[in-house]
Amino acid sequence: MTLGLLLLALNFFPSIQVAENKILVKQLPMLVAHNNEVNLSCNYTYNLLSKEFRASLYKGVNSDVEVCNVSGNFSHQLQFHSNMGFNCDGNLDNETVTFYLRNLHVNQTDIYFCKIEVMYPPPYIGNEKSNGTIIHVKEEHHCLAAELFWALVVVGGLLALYSFLVTLALSIFWTKSRRNRLLQSDYMNMTPRRLGPTRKHYQPYAPARDFAAYRS
Ligand SMILES: *[C@@H]1O[C@H](CO)[C@@H](O)[C@H](O)[C@H]1NC(C)=O
Ligand SMILES: *[C@@H]1O[C@H](CO)[C@@H](O)[C@H](O)[C@H]1NC(C)=O
Ligand SMILES: *[C@@H]1O[C@H](CO)[C@@H](O)[C@H](O)[C@H]1NC(C)=O
Ligand SMILES: *[C@@H]1O[C@H](CO)[C@@H](O)[C@H](O)[C@H]1NC(C)=O
Ligand SMILES: *[C@@H]1O[C@H](CO)[C@@H](O)[C@H](O)[C@H]1NC(C)=O
Ligand SMILES: *[C@@H]1O[C@H](CO)[C@@H](O)[C@H](O)[C@H]1NC(C)=O
Ligand SMILES: *[C@@H]1O[C@H](CO)[C@@H](O)[C@H](O)[C@H]1NC(C)=O
Repeated sequence: MTLGLLLLALNFFPSIQVAENKILVKQLPMLVAHNNEVNLSCNYTYNLLSKEFRASLYKGVNSDVEVCNVSGNFSHQLQFHSNMGFNCDGNLDNETVTFYLRNLHVNQTDIYFCKIEVMYPPPYIGNEKSNGTIIHVKEEHHCLAAELFWALVVVGGLLALYSFLVTLALSIFWTKSRRNRLLQSDYMNMTPRRLGPTRKHYQPYAPARDFAAYRS
């Protein structure tokens, strides 16, 4: 009985201590940067109000690059400090720290971890390592613009080739048909001469009828 209680107590106390000395962090599993910009929110299971704390963001599987941090307390102006190669700012409330990362480069695509440490009042509490957020920085618009440019060049080239071919075909056709027409008109010039009498016979008749209709 007493042994059972002792074992229960031994089992119980460490788990309470772990729960109290650890803060859990929730962060989205993945974010895609737009305009080389991303807002990464770190949600803590802890109220930071009236505590002195340090919140930071680390890059890499082993968290070996500190990207950005903010430390102090809410009664003091809190400032975000960014490490070399990063442009970082942010915002925070009692349980969330949001890091605004700007001018991200494609080669900064990586996994990022939020970290929180409560310095005062004691005891010191840190967070359980979070699952991290993969920040995917994509090649920006200039790539799209380049693609569009080349697409236009290709389309323009095809159009120019097409209009050249059409012009060529038309001019060949025109030259040929002009030659044909010349040949035809030579032939036609000859027919009226042959059919001359009949035409002459009909021609005066039609205007005469019209003339008569007009008069009456
Ligand atoms: C972290 O990942 C583990 C395993 O995939 C999952 O069980 C846990 O809920 C995740 N934690 C958070 C805070 O999302
Ligand atoms: C963190 O909390 C904010 C509100 O406080 C919520 O909008 C956001 O979705 C939360 N993020 C995660 C990853 O739980
Ligand atoms: C990040 O948050 C700031 C302030 O709320 C906002 O102006 C900006 O547009 C956000 N950026 C992104 C990529 O969501
Ligand atoms: C943070 O503040 C809001 C209201 O200001 C409150 O509802 C919430 O419980 C607080 N968070 C924690 C972890 O105490
Ligand atoms: C907040 O931080 C400032 C500067 O570090 C310190 O002077 C002040 O006593 C702190 N306030 C609290 C409530 O811890
Ligand atoms: C916060 O970040 C700045 C810039 O990277 C660094 O110089 C400073 O040591 C960091 N502060 C803490 C308390 O980690
Ligand atoms: C990332 O790319 C930038 C610009 O091309 C370059 O200056 C920087 O050294 C690169 N960083 C790494 C870690 O490769």
